[in-house]
Amino acid sequence: MRKVTIIGAGNVGSSVALYLAEHKIADIYLVDVVAGLPEGKALDAEEAAPIRRYDVELRGSTDFSCMVESDVVVITAGIARRPGMSRDDLLNTNAKIIKSVSEKVAAYAPNSIIIMVTNPLDVMAYLALKTTGFALKKVVGMAGILDSIRFRSFVAQKFGVSVIDTTAMVLGGHGDSMVPLPRYSTVAGIPITELMSKDDIDKIIERTRKGGAEIVGYLKTGSAYYAPAAAVAKMVECIVRDKRRILPCSAYLKGEYGIEGLFVGVPVMLGKNGVEKIVELELIPEEREALHTSASAVRTVIEKLEDLGII
Ligand code: LAC
Repeated sequence: MRKVTIIGAGNVGSSVALYLAEHKIADIYLVDVVAGLPEGKALDAEEAAPIRRYDVELRGSTDFSCMVESDVVVITAGIARRPGMSRDDLLNTNAKIIKSVSEKVAAYAPNSIIIMVTNPLDVMAYLALKTTGFALKKVVGMAGILDSIRFRSFVAQKFGVSVIDTTAMVLGGHGDSMVPLPRYSTVAGIPITELMSKDDIDKIIERTRKGGAEIVGYLKTGSAYYAPAAAVAKMVECIVRDKRRILPCSAYLKGEYGIEGLFVGVPVMLGKNGVEKIVELELIPEEREALHTSASAVRTVIEKLEDLGII
């Protein structure tokens, strides 16, 4: 059995643990600095196993050394948004946490693949890469899948069709400048640009961009976790089972799409080595420009991190 450690036993981390257990994807270690939280959640999930019929190991600990020999380390540690906050407002607090967590991952699980979930995640993925010194393909951020499944849900609602018959592609940073691509989003293989008015598509794009804030607005004390956790579990599965699926993820670009030296959401092939390949879609000028604008927004936040002296 493969081993996955989830750092941060909050709502996202514990939901990831449950999804992974239900699909028997790996043995799961839940780690958190808050004593009792990882132990309690792991034990509770373990006690559900006789009915839910998973026989993976589920352990919780405050001791980071339990991540040794993990194949994948999912980082969800940090604070979430409250109403009125942007993901970038989390920078100061979360950067310190992610730097310290990344040092521990480098020490205890140097052969693992890191999936970054903590926001602002394109920048936190960059920080983890710089702190660990891991190979580029071994650090990947979760966002594009989440934004794409939100987009798919809204398309399915609009047409009254099964979500299973929809696909979507959302590129860019995981922020207000993300770039949903209607030309690459389909219902039963037909691009939605052939099925919907521009007005309706624009409404879905806008709702997707604000999808995280919509949930924060309802929950008030935190942000979304079921859909984010489902997206993370999909990524873990692709890596652990070497699925080589093509999914939008935040990956380090070295000139692809004309972008260099930062993480931004693009379609990648996810397999046992992490980011096996970056897929370059043909973009029309306005899509390319939107992607570059989004990448610039990510770069501005990286510069703030440099100003803070964190990298
Ligand atoms: C969201 C947060 C988790 O999009 O970024 O819900």
